[in-house]
Formats: sequence, structure tokens, C-alpha cells
Amino acid sequence: MKTLNKITALSILFSGVLLSCSEAEKQLAEDNLLVINNQSVNEDKALTLLKTNCFTCHNPDLDIENRVAPPWFKVRQHYYDEETTKEEFVAAIINFINNPTEENSIMPGAVRNFGLMPKMSFKAEDLQLIAEYLYDNDISSDEWYEQWEAFEKKTALIPTEINYEDLGRNIANETKANLGKNLMAAVKEKGAAGAVEFCNIQAIPITDSMSVVLNAKVKRVSDKPRNPINAANNDELEYIENWKKAKIKGEKFPPKVVEINNKMVGYYPIETNEMCMKCHGIPEKQINTETLANIKKLYPNDKAMGYSENEIRGIFVVEMDKK
Ligand code: HEC
Ligand code: HEC
Repeated sequence: MKTLNKITALSILFSGVLLSCSEAEKQLAEDNLLVINNQSVNEDKALTLLKTNCFTCHNPDLDIENRVAPPWFKVRQHYYDEETTKEEFVAAIINFINNPTEENSIMPGAVRNFGLMPKMSFKAEDLQLIAEYLYDNDISSDEWYEQWEAFEKKTALIPTEINYEDLGRNIANETKANLGKNLMAAVKEKGAAGAVEFCNIQAIPITDSMSVVLNAKVKRVSDKPRNPINAANNDELEYIENWKKAKIKGEKFPPKVVEINNKMVGYYPIETNEMCMKCHGIPEKQINTETLANIKKLYPNDKAMGYSENEIRGIFVVEMDKK
């Protein structure tokens, strides 16, 4: 590991110096080590976020066949040149992710080829970390790629203090990104009518290494389910109602993590965007006749129509082992 080497090299360097230096210098040396350690923790965090939230679609592996979005280096080329400051870059990326519209896009060709990027929700500090990392690192370079391959091989270290809320959010977001990717690919290939069965979550694997360590499971439930299997129970209904109320009032109702039967269970809202309207919007207006027929055939008790954009469609329920 590159960073580890750096730390070892530095400690050797400093251990020689330390014998003769004052307390102040010793403190400085320790601070330096701390900065480097923090940096590698932050880099790992950024890479984890990228892997689960962005590379699902903006694959750095140049896999042309399964492409549903431009590879990241292409996006970076449009957002970055020698004169771009970090502040400008970070602001532009965050602005687009929070509001992926045609007006905000500077890549009309990508929108034409792939359709608009679906809107997802992130924690502000996570987005900041992602955007800063993307400014600092040239993902098309061999050096970066080596780092990425090493990162992918690394097994997860269980941190002493697990933040289940953040972990659950990452797992929910990864699921959402995977689902979005499969849906976009299916709608592109078969049209909405042919893609109806692709909104099924059972087939979505979670690859976040912490989710494997914690034996995490994800399900989606709704107060107005399409598939009766996905009906929310009473506890889940309460969360959905609270989110809906908060949303109407323009307030924030934070995701929740509770302990149930020795498991940590996190709840995260699922909101609708433009892409969902083809199958969850207004029948005959947004959902075309053919799609409607397929939905009715597969889901005779469907309750999941008539939504508009930016509504609470249901919640992710993420169950994790308690460590
Ligand atoms: C579900 C698939 C998907 C995921 C996940 C995804 N994107 Fe995208 N993204 C797209 C598609 C499709 C486009 C091209 C169309 C467009 O520009 O809207 C795109 C375009 C972009 C653009 C260029 C926008 C423009 O048109 O100017 C940026 C910036 C971007 N994505 C950032 C991100 C970041 C950062 C993440 C992770 C936090 C991410 N995306 C996750 C699908 C995705
Ligand atoms: C191509 C059609 C299609 C699109 C587009 C689509 N869905 Fe679905 N959705 C379905 C089908 C079909 C089901 C039932 C899946 C099952 O049997 O588990 C479903 C189920 C769901 C469920 C699980 C609860 C339930 O009602 O069974 C949620 C939540 C959901 N969709 C949210 C979304 C969101 C959010 C979007 C947009 C980002 C979206 N869907 C886009 C077809 C679609």
C-alpha cells in the first residue's frame, strides 16, 4: 500500500529525529502522522462512496457493453481543465447531483445517449468528499488505477465504532444505484413495457464490503405496494407517514436506525423522480397503454400508480448484524 509505505517511511524518518528534538517538534511530527492517517481514512471513505454510489454507473473499468452512463474520466474532462479551481469543480459537481436537469447539464451528448442521470439523495458531507476526491485524482491515470485495484482487493476492517446509520445509508444508496442502473439499461433496451419486471429488487447484489461483514440485507417496502410482498408493516408505515408529513412541511425527518432482535435496522426514504413516472405515474398519461397492460397482468392488486415526481414512494429497510 502506497500510503502505508509513506507512513512507515515517515515514522522511520521521525524516529531518528525525535531523539534529539524538543517537545514541540515531537508534537509536530505526531500531527503530521495524524494528517497522513486521516488522509488515508478519507481516501478509503471516498473510494467506498464512489464505488457504491457512482461507479455502479460511471464504471472506471471501461466496460463498454454494460454502459449506462459516460465513464468518469469523460465526465471529468468536461468539468475539469487546468484553470478550474477546486471550489468551482466541487460546486459544479454537487450542483448537478442535487439537481440533474437538462438546464444544469453541460454534456448534452451524454443526456441524448443515456437519458438524464436519476436524482439520488446524499449526505452533504459525503458529496463534498466525493467531489473533492474527484478533483484531486485523475481517474484515467495508471497510478490511480493501481490504487483502485488495491482498494478493491482490500478486505473491510471493522472500525471500533460503527456508525450504523451511515453504513445503512451507504448500503441503501448502493442498492438504489444498482437498481437505477438496471432499470435505465432495461428501459433503454426494451422500453418501459418490457422493463416492468426489472424493478424487482431481489436480484440486486450488494457488494459494499462492510455489508458482507455485517451480513446486511435490504428490502423495499411501501404504503402503496405494487407487489403485495412489499407491503410495509406497522412500524414501517409509521416512518413513511412521518417522512411524508415532514416533506409537506418542508422539514427534514432524518433516517432512523433502531435495534430489533439484536439486529440494527435502518430506514431510508425512497423518492420518485422523472424516470419512475413511466411505471408509477399517471396511467395512460405517463404510463403508456402497453406498460399498463403488463403491470396489470403481473400485479392485479397494484396500488403504486398516480405518483408525481419528488414524492415518498416507500422506504429502504436495511438490516445489519450488531457488532
Ligand atoms: C444510476 C446511474 C448513475 C449513477 C449511480 C450516477 N450517475 Fe452520474 N450520470 C448518469 C448518466 C446516465 C449520466 C449522463 C446523462 C446526464 O448527464 O445526465 C450522468 C452524468 C453525470 C455528470 C455529468 C452531468 C452533465 O450532463 O453535465 C456528473 C457530474 C455525474 N454524473 C456525477 C455523478 C456522481 C458524482 C455520482 C455518484 C455520486 C453519479 N454521477 C452517480 C448516471 C448515473
Ligand atoms: C419499468 C417500470 C418501472 C420503473 C421505471 C420503476 N418501477 Fe418501481 N416497480 C416496478 C415494478 C414492476 C415493481 C414491483 C417489483 C416487485 O415485484 O418486487 C416496482 C416496485 C417498486 C417498489 C417496491 C414497493 C412496491 O410497490 O412493490 C418501489 C419502492 C419502487 N418500485 C420505486 C421506484 C422508483 C423510486 C422508481 C424510479 C427511480 C421506479 N420504481 C421506477 C416498475 C417500475
